Amino acid sequence: MTENTVDLSAPVHTSKIHLPNLVLFLQGVVGEKYVLTDAEALEKYAHDETEDLVFYPEVVVKPITPEEISAIMVYANEHLIPVTARGAGTGLSGSALPVKGGIVISMERFNKILEIDAANHQATVEPGVINEAFQDEVKKQNLFYAVDPASKGSCFLGGNLAQSSGGPRAVKYGTTRDNVLNLEVVLPTGEIIWTGANVLKYSTGYNLTHLMVGSEGTLGIITKAVFKLRPYPAHNLVMLVPFESAEEACAAVSAIFMAGANPSCLEFMERDALDWAIAFTESTLIIPENIQAHLLIEVDGPNKEDLYKQAETIFEVVGQFKIGEALLGESADEKDALWKLRRQAPYAVRHNSVYKEEDTVVPRAKLPQLLKGVKELGKQFGFKSVCYGHAGDGNLHINIIKAAMTEEQWHGPELKKGIEELFKLVVSLGGTISGEHGIGYVQKPYIGIALAEKNLDLMRGIKKVFDPNNILNPEKIF
Ligand code: LAC
Ligand code: ZN
Repeated sequence: MTENTVDLSAPVHTSKIHLPNLVLFLQGVVGEKYVLTDAEALEKYAHDETEDLVFYPEVVVKPITPEEISAIMVYANEHLIPVTARGAGTGLSGSALPVKGGIVISMERFNKILEIDAANHQATVEPGVINEAFQDEVKKQNLFYAVDPASKGSCFLGGNLAQSSGGPRAVKYGTTRDNVLNLEVVLPTGEIIWTGANVLKYSTGYNLTHLMVGSEGTLGIITKAVFKLRPYPAHNLVMLVPFESAEEACAAVSAIFMAGANPSCLEFMERDALDWAIAFTESTLIIPENIQAHLLIEVDGPNKEDLYKQAETIFEVVGQFKIGEALLGESADEKDALWKLRRQAPYAVRHNSVYKEEDTVVPRAKLPQLLKGVKELGKQFGFKSVCYGHAGDGNLHINIIKAAMTEEQWHGPELKKGIEELFKLVVSLGGTISGEHGIGYVQKPYIGIALAEKNLDLMRGIKKVFDPNNILNPEKIF
């Protein structure tokens, strides 16, 4: 190992930073106004939406061009300074937290939609564009960007790329990974590359675009993205179906697909999640005592008749289970009211208690076993869980609620063991430990449950090729 090669098990130390020199350098690159060092300004960049974690950077810098980022990376390599890129800070696995201090590069000034190429159904954007703003802009041309995480109103497309974010519509349209064609990336060593081409097929060597997506800002900093667009689906219908048994609600999920329906969203919410969302949003919806879970189902497409036919198929399927009175949202207001409850569920949970959110995913027909197992583990290891998620693609968000737990219990070995058992269950069902939130910092201790040592070795090797000095987002994933 040469002096400049830092082993991944011995990450760079921030004590090497000579802050005044670094600040002068950064000011020279981006201008004084875009370099922040006072504690009050840094506070916003010290946390995201992951639990109650706080890690302060030494300095925040807000570049506006790939060349500026390149210059920062070259300097950081020379001085072995950790660099962490950050989007809107809505992450749920701590991926954008500067756990080793150093520089946070805020991507907030990369906020332009550069081109909407309607003829090719694609668009080139900068990573600091808010997901919903992008959806709204392409809609003006009757085009559709399909990926809509719950945080769409605030999350950046760059963060979506870093985590391969999904959201409700992934069941029909795929996650961010399935909707990106090409990326401009600043490598940790300062070179600026494009990862592929702006085409719908790509069989030209290793797929660096897909390697970059979901790499959680550990392999490079994305500075432009070309996304795939589709025709805007003119119509949709939304159904809310109450179930007397939460496990039966899960069982209905695969039955809906088996019957030939193709929902654009199929969301699960257990009783507590909906109750908390109702209280949080001050909704007037009343849920009968005997209801334990709901499915929120959307179908979309160009033809209204077809949607009613699909809804009929879905009602036939769910009618075979013990259900309450289903609601059908047809007007925009009715649909919005139903969606609001689901979209606000994570905020309602957060409002109620500190929590750990596990982002488990299993083949969808295994959902009933997963839910049953989660509740049994909760009893065994003394944790309460509130579950909701994207049941259509088998992605269950399991929120472990701190509520009445003491600090010792919350940080103690018993809960950690419970989470380990939960992840072992997920893997035994053919699933994995994160579907869309990433591994980041908080799931890192558990990655060995999901990935074999050989797979981890391959990943460490890839990291080393891209980032020989381990300066970019250290201490994440593995
Ligand atoms: C959701 C986020 C938490 O599905 O992924 O609401
Ligand atoms: Zn989700």
